[in-house]
Amino acid sequence: MGKSSSFCYQFSKHRFSTSFGGPFFFLPLSLAISTVLLICLYIFCTTSKVFTNTQNNLYQESSPISSLIQQMVPFSLENAAEELFFSPRSAPLSRGNQWSIGSLFGLYGNYVNNTEVYHDKDFFLEDYKEMNRSLKIYVYPHSRDDPFANVLLPVDYDPKGHYASELYFKRILFKSHFITKNPSEADLFFMPFSIVEMRHDPRIGPEGMQDFIKDYIHNISHKYPYWNRTDGADHFYVACHTIGRFAMDKVFEAKFNVIQVVCSSSYFVAGYIPHKDASMPQIWPRQGDPPNFASSKRKQLAFFAGTINSPARLALLKLWGNDTDIFAHFGRLRTPDADQLLGSKFCLHVKGFEVNSARVADAIYYGCVPVILANHYDLPFGDILNWESFSVLVHYLDIPVLKNILQRISLEEYSVLQSNTLKVRKHFQWNDPPIDYDAFYMTMYELWLRQSSVRVRLSAWME
Ligand SMILES: *[C@@H]1O[C@H](CO)[C@@H](O)[C@H](O)[C@H]1NC(C)=O
Ligand SMILES: *[C@@H]1O[C@H](CO)[C@@H](O)[C@H](O)[C@H]1NC(C)=O
Ligand SMILES: *[C@@H]1O[C@H](CO)[C@@H](O)[C@H](O)[C@H]1NC(C)=O
Ligand SMILES: *[C@@H]1O[C@H](CO)[C@@H](O)[C@H](O)[C@H]1NC(C)=O
Ligand SMILES: *[C@@H]1O[C@H](CO)[C@@H](O)[C@H](O)[C@H]1NC(C)=O
Repeated sequence: MGKSSSFCYQFSKHRFSTSFGGPFFFLPLSLAISTVLLICLYIFCTTSKVFTNTQNNLYQESSPISSLIQQMVPFSLENAAEELFFSPRSAPLSRGNQWSIGSLFGLYGNYVNNTEVYHDKDFFLEDYKEMNRSLKIYVYPHSRDDPFANVLLPVDYDPKGHYASELYFKRILFKSHFITKNPSEADLFFMPFSIVEMRHDPRIGPEGMQDFIKDYIHNISHKYPYWNRTDGADHFYVACHTIGRFAMDKVFEAKFNVIQVVCSSSYFVAGYIPHKDASMPQIWPRQGDPPNFASSKRKQLAFFAGTINSPARLALLKLWGNDTDIFAHFGRLRTPDADQLLGSKFCLHVKGFEVNSARVADAIYYGCVPVILANHYDLPFGDILNWESFSVLVHYLDIPVLKNILQRISLEEYSVLQSNTLKVRKHFQWNDPPIDYDAFYMTMYELWLRQSSVRVRLSAWME
């Protein structure tokens, strides 16, 4: 809803003046247009309220969980489980039955072989080489003396923590062969402001981020000719913290044109546009390999750890909180997560307050087959990797049959899933310097795919 209303706003602000100039069309059209405008204005006003609510939550970490959920989802906590599973379609169990034959080898005897981890490996390898050879990025230059050098230049330490992906990407990109100093040979333009650094900078903070970016885009669009050529369509920025999603809210043409490379790639909320934007995995940096991936050591069926901050997690608690096969731990765990991640066959990734977390990449790192319970999540590298070959995607309506689904996955199927999980591990790791096909190169490849589809060359007639 937010997305469509913003679109209306965009439409009224932008297209109106340019496309409807003819005097003959204007009179009959004006009535219709003003009606549309009124409707848009109404929708825009009502949804921006919703939007502000969600946004406020981000900064009020102490607010009680129940009110948090109520603000996010339109139903009460008491009935959450019931309402969560209410569905006009057939009973959830029927979906559980589907899984009895698994999705790897097809349904009801329709044999398919869905075990390949890439959608099209040959094409990917060829195209990747081409990308590696020809993709060129121009980074807007900033000096060390810039008062905001901390935000604009790469960090000189090894990034740590939940949002390390953003800092890693920038640090590696700056040193890579993709960089060009010659803007005329650039395919894409990188705006190097860091959402993580802005968040921690007392001069900016989460509240000042949108104004800073508005100012930044104003600056580059006046100082250089590149922005105006496409209204930012060949520009990109990278953000791993969810507040990055609101970064462009004060520059509407940016929001609709710029390629956003983000970890919070949920198309359920306004701000993420899957065909234009790219999903980057949130990765907690880890060194070396864990001791042993062997599936024989995995005695526990499934493992989950996290706080209860969403209806899906609440349902998990209500239904599987005391289960012995599914070990669901709510809150912080005493024993290190690693033991559980190595001792379980499946690791649950359940939509929390926000969809993104480093948990998926962690599961993959430890060779634990990820189970994704998050609808509307644009999975990282999903246009390259066949997620069904190394993870189990479960609709949240199926939480009541979660155990069925997992137990009915045959040993044969599980071993395919797990060996594929190990095959994709390399794509979910940061290395500095980067290693072919790691998270850095995969993100570059995502950009390569985006630039070929959104590029609008207006320069020929604008210059
Ligand atoms: C499925 O395809 C893979 C790769 O194409 C092949 O190695 C494997 O043997 C196939 N599996 C079955 C059961 O046909
Ligand atoms: C990608 O480019 C780097 C730097 O030129 C090179 O070391 C690497 O071998 C290339 N990888 C592929 C698969 O072409
Ligand atoms: C924009 O340019 C002005 C004038 O050079 C400068 O003071 C300001 O810091 C710049 N803002 C950003 C966000 O780069
Ligand atoms: C880009 O467009 C803006 C708004 O139309 C204009 O003010 C600015 O001067 C243009 N930039 C350049 C470099 O021409
Ligand atoms: C789990 O166990 C506790 C304490 O024994 C009990 O109060 C609760 O109702 C149980 N939950 C479920 C979902 O069975």
